Order: sequence, then C-alpha cells, then structure tokens
Amino acid sequence: MSDQKFKVFVTRKIPDTGIKLLKQAGFQASVSSFDGVLPRPDLLKKVKGVDAILSLLTDKMDAELMDAAGPQLKIIANYAVGTDNINLDDAAARNITITNTPGVLTEAVAELAFALMMSAARRIPESDQFTRKGKYKGWAPMMMLGSELHHKILGIIGLGRIGSAVAERAFFGFKMKIIYYDVKRNEEFEQKFQAEYRGLPGLLRDADFISIHVPLIPETKHLIGKNELKIMKKTAYLINTSRGPIIDEAALVDALKKKRIAGAGLDVYENEPKLSPGLKDLPSAVLTPHTGSATIETRSAMAELAAKNIIEVLNGRAPLTPVKKP
Ligand code: GLV
Ligand code: GLV
Repeated sequence: MSDQKFKVFVTRKIPDTGIKLLKQAGFQASVSSFDGVLPRPDLLKKVKGVDAILSLLTDKMDAELMDAAGPQLKIIANYAVGTDNINLDDAAARNITITNTPGVLTEAVAELAFALMMSAARRIPESDQFTRKGKYKGWAPMMMLGSELHHKILGIIGLGRIGSAVAERAFFGFKMKIIYYDVKRNEEFEQKFQAEYRGLPGLLRDADFISIHVPLIPETKHLIGKNELKIMKKTAYLINTSRGPIIDEAALVDALKKKRIAGAGLDVYENEPKLSPGLKDLPSAVLTPHTGSATIETRSAMAELAAKNIIEVLNGRAPLTPVKKP
C-alpha cells in the first residue's frame, strides 16, 4: 500500500471491536457522529472518496449512493444478515463487493423468535401490564389462560441458519413437531429433526406456531396476506423476526382484531419504524423494535465480521461472507 491510507466510512456508531480492527489494519476509519439514521444528503456527502462503506440495514445503498462515493469504492459491508437495503445489481455493475454478517447472529435471532413465541402464547406482556396496573387481585382459575408449546406443531417458513436454529430449540427443548416450507427440501434436516416438508398452504393449515425466516426479495413480499391468514388455525400464532414486508401487516391487524388467529409476535414491520393502524392496541400482538440481533455478544461479533470483510477486500483478498444475488 502507498502512503495513501484506505478510507472507510461507518454510517453510525457500532461496537468498538470493529472500528479497532479497521484502525489496526491501517485504514482511516471515520464513524458518523450523528445519533440516528444519517439523512440521505449527508450520507451522499460523507461517502465521497471512500474505499469502503460499513452500512446499516437502515441505509439505502443504490446506484446514486455508489456513484456519489466514486469509482474507487470497493466494498459495502452490511451490518446485518439481510441485504434488502442494497441494490445488488447496481453493486455488481460497478464491481463493488457486498458482504453481510451471517452466522454470528443466528443464535440471538433464534432466541428472540422463541421469546416472542413464548411471550405471545403465555401472554407475558399483557400479564405484566395487568400486574403493574394493580389489576391482580388474587389467583384465579380462569385468569390469563394461554397456550402451551410442547408437542405442538411448529411451521418454519424459510429453512436457513436461523430457521434451523429455531427448529433445534423447538425439537429438543419443547418436543415440538417440526414442519417446514422452503424453495428447496433439506433431507438432512428432515432426518435430524424428524421434520416434514410442506407446501405453504399445507404448513399454514397444520401449524400451531409459524415462524418466518426468509429474506425479503420480490418473491417473498406479502408471502403472508389475507388468504394465507385465512388458512391458519384459529388457535395459531404467527412470529416474524425476518423482514416486515413479508407479511401484509394491515391484513394481519384485521385477522388479529377478528380473532381469526390467536396471536402474533413481531420484531419487524412493513413500514419501519411505523406500525400499521390498530396494531399497538391489540393485546394479542407482542411487539419488539427490530432487536433480533441486539445482544452485546452478537453486535460485537457483527462489527468484527463486517470489519474483517473490509480488511480482506481492501487488501485484495476474497471477502469472508460475500452476498450473491439469490
Ligand atoms: C437484521 O435484521 C439483520 O438482517 O441482520
Ligand atoms: C441467516 O443467517 C439465515 O440463513 O437464516
């Protein structure tokens, strides 16, 4: 490398572990000091002349942004496993490498999916409010009755790393029966978890709990809409820790209002950070603010992995976790 240092722009404060690695590698790493999603005009200005961008899922990375950076831009390392904020075609056309952070967040997201499942089934947020508000006047046989998980049927939509990690918890910890839907079958998974493959309608019809783990691509937008919700059991719960637009949120609010399904656990929303009208008033919906990977351990590991991808690519080596168009 010449005395000219490679420049890296990090679009928002992330755990220090990643920034340290970039600096140790001899790069000039600058981190946005703005406490929020950088407004578009500022982002376009800040990326000018950089060799690498460490982006967040809240930053749109498209042709305009890539051209604003300039032809020296070599890599965009997304601080997320999902890359729906990035236009992969625009990046390919400019020879820009895209990386994500798979693997390191699998357990954290699977744990949150499980937490949502249990919270919805046992009405934990609702019970917590009830207790805090002084409504608990003594034990009662019919108070806050919920639903059990053990031996129930769990339907996994999208069998990647996270979907498999949810299945593992369900099968070993709760003796649930696993069914799954994906674009392809996985016989090894079927054997390991005595799981059965289903088409989407079959899964919707049979599952007591449904957990979504597909990426957001044009084909998965509104994968679950009015018609799909109609097929679900009245006693079933829908859990989403993937991306909001996979579910038609207005249709879900309607189904919950009419008690056409028992409940939902949502970590992601169709128009984040906005919620569809009526959603926040439904006690049968458990809502978290897109915190699937939000543990100290995982967020540090994501920062390191994103930094390592940048280090490899700027040193002319292959990235650790490149993203290819599905
Ligand atoms: C978070 O939503 C991620 O894609 O990592
Ligand atoms: C993400 O890591 C997935 O494959 O589910």
